[in-house]
Amino acid sequence: MANVIIVGMQWGDEGKGKIVDLLCPAFDGVVRYQGGHNAGHTVKFRDRHFSLRLIPSGILHAEMACFMGNGMVIAPDAFLEELDQLAASGVQVAGRLFVSNRAHVLFPLHAALDRAREEARGSHRIGTTSRGIGPAYASKASRYGLRICDLTAPDLADHLDNLRSRAEVELAGLGAPSLAALGADTGVEQCRDWAERLAPHLCDTEQLLNAWIAGGRALLFEGAQGTLLDLDHGTYPYVTSSSSTAGGACTGTGVPPTSIDGAIGVLKAYTTRVGGGPFPAELTDARGDFLRQRGNEFGTVTGRPRRCGWLDTVVARYAQLLNGIDTVALTKLDVLDDFDEIPVCVAYRLDGKQLRDLPPDRHCLETAEPVLRTFKGWKRSTAGILEEADLPPAARDYIDFIEQELNAPVTMVSTGPRREETLLRDHPALHRLTSGHLGRVVEQR
Ligand code: GDP
Ligand code: IMO
Ligand code: MG
Repeated sequence: MANVIIVGMQWGDEGKGKIVDLLCPAFDGVVRYQGGHNAGHTVKFRDRHFSLRLIPSGILHAEMACFMGNGMVIAPDAFLEELDQLAASGVQVAGRLFVSNRAHVLFPLHAALDRAREEARGSHRIGTTSRGIGPAYASKASRYGLRICDLTAPDLADHLDNLRSRAEVELAGLGAPSLAALGADTGVEQCRDWAERLAPHLCDTEQLLNAWIAGGRALLFEGAQGTLLDLDHGTYPYVTSSSSTAGGACTGTGVPPTSIDGAIGVLKAYTTRVGGGPFPAELTDARGDFLRQRGNEFGTVTGRPRRCGWLDTVVARYAQLLNGIDTVALTKLDVLDDFDEIPVCVAYRLDGKQLRDLPPDRHCLETAEPVLRTFKGWKRSTAGILEEADLPPAARDYIDFIEQELNAPVTMVSTGPRREETLLRDHPALHRLTSGHLGRVVEQR
């Protein structure tokens, strides 16, 4: 049985939630391994529409077990709210949603710090989701964060005092109001209440996940954010604070690399990013506005308009390299249907030189000019196409080019937001990664 990582190949919002949901019939469990409620994963099928932030996208499948790994930062309020929303939609989670005892707690004070830090950065702000992700991972790395298992510790009050006093010092230094004034203080009682409500879901997920693998069950690891938002490999400092590349799936769950069988990269047919930071293939003209409207590129979490641009294969090749992508799910191809011409950024021009590999330096990325190769548009609707033969020839050329650039097969082509709107190619890579159960995926689609 194959254990597979799904990872975003750009700056997030590639359509990971849709692809995870689609592939569930070939897996026994879905595992989130990093990030928190900065993620917004959309799942649509038939007339149903869900937006998941913390809970894995597999939860909508009644038989699927879902795991939230130690690498996540979990805001109990947001988690409990999401549980309530799922219950209101008729989704039962009892007995199949497992949360790591070792995941770190994201407190309201982390969100307050996030906002104050962003405010202080002025024009250099990262444009975070203001959920507190960076400060929560900073507490973890500084070794005074609280894990979920610590919510019931006998010395909880001391831990909270420590966390609170550090936050107060920083807020005062940034000229921000106090935690009490911000309504961002958390007491022992609140923690005990959270612990009680979380208790039915808590376990040592490391033990459980490895036991599942040993028992021959297949796990799908659901990455959040995207490769270029990875703390190490992304466009630092305009990144998130976790390891969103495939490597994070191991540290973020306790599942060893030797148990991972492959990786699926989710690649949007063009590029978007939310917040600040370099974006060499960005379009700031009417074509960018068109992509935004046609692709409905507005943040799931914050509602912010996403910046839009052409596909960038410098970015995609880098993602292929870092994640060891076995196959690609190409999403939102339909959004390109109306263009006469579709340019793709294939290299960057910098100081008279052409770069094929992503430079680390932010200033290089900010001044790099895209080297474009232009493809003919197909000017025909691809929405809902399920057979390869029905794809317009120009769309097939576009897909062929992506395969050549990445040296990886595109085995899924998504041409609409709904599960039903996905072309699945009968390819050995997809058979292998779905443990021979591709038929189940096709049947459910
Ligand atoms: P994620 O964070 O990677 O899961 O992606 P998001 O859910 O934040 O953003 C992807 C958006 O595109 C969602 O609104 C999806 O419903 C939508 N979507 C996904 N695939 C397609 C597609 O192939 N075509 C179109 N038109 N929309 C899609
Ligand atoms: P999914 O999982 C797109 C971006 C923010 C900001 C930067 C840091 O839906 O693809 P953070 O709040 O994490 O400290 O913000 O990362 N960002 C995302 N962009 N999709 C996401 O998640 C994102 N999660 C964070 O906009 O630029
Ligand atoms: Mg998203």
